[in-house]
Amino acid sequence: MTRPPRIAPSILSADFGALAAEVAAVAEAGADWIHLDVMDGHFVPNITFGPPVVAAIRKATDLLFDVHLMIAPADPFLAAFATAGADRIIVHAEAGPHLHRSLQAIGALGKRAGVAINPGTSADAVAGVLDLVDLVLVMTVNPGFGGQNFIPAMLPKIGAIRDMIDGRDIELEVDGGVTAANIGEIAAAGANAFVAGSSVFGNGPGGYQANIAALRAGIAQTR
Ligand code: DX5
Ligand code: ZN
Repeated sequence: MTRPPRIAPSILSADFGALAAEVAAVAEAGADWIHLDVMDGHFVPNITFGPPVVAAIRKATDLLFDVHLMIAPADPFLAAFATAGADRIIVHAEAGPHLHRSLQAIGALGKRAGVAINPGTSADAVAGVLDLVDLVLVMTVNPGFGGQNFIPAMLPKIGAIRDMIDGRDIELEVDGGVTAANIGEIAAAGANAFVAGSSVFGNGPGGYQANIAALRAGIAQTR
């Protein structure tokens, strides 16, 4: 079954000096979820924010917080992100030797669990954990930075995972380089959830509503 389209603006591209207001603005502009990119300077070559910032912006909206952990190890921090207000916690298959255990731990905290894979990781990496997740995240750039170009070679992998999750109640999310121009082919490949950083936040709050509408229109064109 294919889930409804979800637009998940990534606050990585928001104004960090006004983060709560940015979250409220993008929620008002029609976002479905808020995507939070947590980076540790170790698993990826950049550092962003941790649980206190998640807690600070939690008050700005009731929308689902889709917390993408680009950290290794992840397990010591799962409880802190759950307490801070994450609704879904996504861990990378590459972040440690015990992916299954990490996903079990997220479930035990009462949160939705997601698994992410980098561009260099094959679809098979998620096959053994599908019973534990409500979302698979396919990275379509190498994680660490916003504003990179979508890697078209990821389209067949999206299709392979779509086939793999057929019949399961699992969201298939893509992250990196999603624009109004390419979201149609990404949806056609099988994705239903779309992280978008620069293509939503690129030109300031006045553009958020039109930017999200343009992404939705791009999905609709392929259907
Ligand atoms: C990349 C992050 C993405 C990023 C997407 O490491 O996981 O969520 O913010 O940004 P854009 O949409 O600009 O590629
Ligand atoms: Zn992300």
